[in-house]
Amino acid sequence: MTTGPAGDFDVVTGAFSYSGAAIASELQAAGRRVRTLTGHPDRAPAGAAIEARPLDFTDPAGLAESLRGARVLFNTYWVRFARGHVSHEAAVAQSRVLFQAAAEAGVRRIVHVSITHPGADSPYPYFRGKAAVELALADLGLSHAVLRPSILFGGNGVLINNIAWLLRRMPVFAVGGTGQYRVRPIHVDDLARLAVRAAAAAETFVLDAVGPDRPTFLELVRHVRDSVSSGCRVICVPGPLIPPAARLLGLALRDTLLTTEEYEAMADGLADTDGPATGEISLMQWITDHQATLGRTYANELDRHFRSDKDSGHQ
Ligand SMILES: NC(=O)c1ccc[n+]([C@@H]2O[C@H](COP(=O)([O-])OP(=O)(O)OC[C@H]3O[C@@H](n4cnc5c(N)ncnc54)[C@H](OP(=O)(O)O)[C@@H]3O)[C@@H](O)[C@H]2O)c1
Repeated sequence: MTTGPAGDFDVVTGAFSYSGAAIASELQAAGRRVRTLTGHPDRAPAGAAIEARPLDFTDPAGLAESLRGARVLFNTYWVRFARGHVSHEAAVAQSRVLFQAAAEAGVRRIVHVSITHPGADSPYPYFRGKAAVELALADLGLSHAVLRPSILFGGNGVLINNIAWLLRRMPVFAVGGTGQYRVRPIHVDDLARLAVRAAAAAETFVLDAVGPDRPTFLELVRHVRDSVSSGCRVICVPGPLIPPAARLLGLALRDTLLTTEEYEAMADGLADTDGPATGEISLMQWITDHQATLGRTYANELDRHFRSDKDSGHQ
């Protein structure tokens, strides 16, 4: 990509990963040129027409250089869980570095992907960290929009796919507690459309990015099971049994399936909202439509973000 006049391209973090890929493709469909900041430039699909620059927080000047001339920064950067030197606290500090680089580079607006119910006093480090990042963005003084999804589905998403993968293979699937806590996932393409619209708006705002369906977790798991024609029994077990069970499965799969925090936050209702839907695609219909392919292969989070491509088999 050659650099043209200021503002004729946008920067998206993680355009070869999940939500960043959806945002990049929505931007390209609208005729925008896209540059990405990524730790995985080698994962660019053939013919992607996206220039990759390093998402290197140890080089703020390099980040600013990569952002110079951009109209909007779409920020999807975050880490799902702490592991090794990766932590939510570090991700907060790194997000600040990125925002400051954007301000220094003269980026006009930031569209930031957060989470439903971030909270400075949250018992959950993920949600506390997300609140700290939103605050850092507000303190920056740049025009911005914050989109808060609860759970993403569609594309090569992990959660629904891996529930289906387990249901296809296990005799029993355990749901924690009563399973009556609701979830409000949004399709990743709906999130991308919201992001591109948010980029074009002038005002600073915060919006929950949530889909039209709001099943209980038990309803969701049963619907996936029926859709993939699995004979798996879905049973409710005391909530505290879920994290150790997920850890055991994770050992077998060389992955982190579900952290204690992720389970507890969902059981606490943090993946639900009671406002209007801002996405259009029905989760339950999407599951039905993808019954033939859902959960055929396992999506490994550690391979995606914590292991080198050589170790994980990615090429
Ligand atoms: N996925 C969901 O269900 C979900 C639900 C609610 C909220 N969100 C929020 O949506 C945003 C995007 O999520 P996503 O699932 O679309 O993420 P993603 O595409 O997997 O990753 C987004 C960006 O973060 C980087 N990243 C992720 N994990 C990393 C790690 N361990 N070390 C270094 N860099 C890492 C990626 O780097 P690379 O470019 O190198 O891949 C990419 O640039 C996040 O803010 C997340 O909190 C997601």
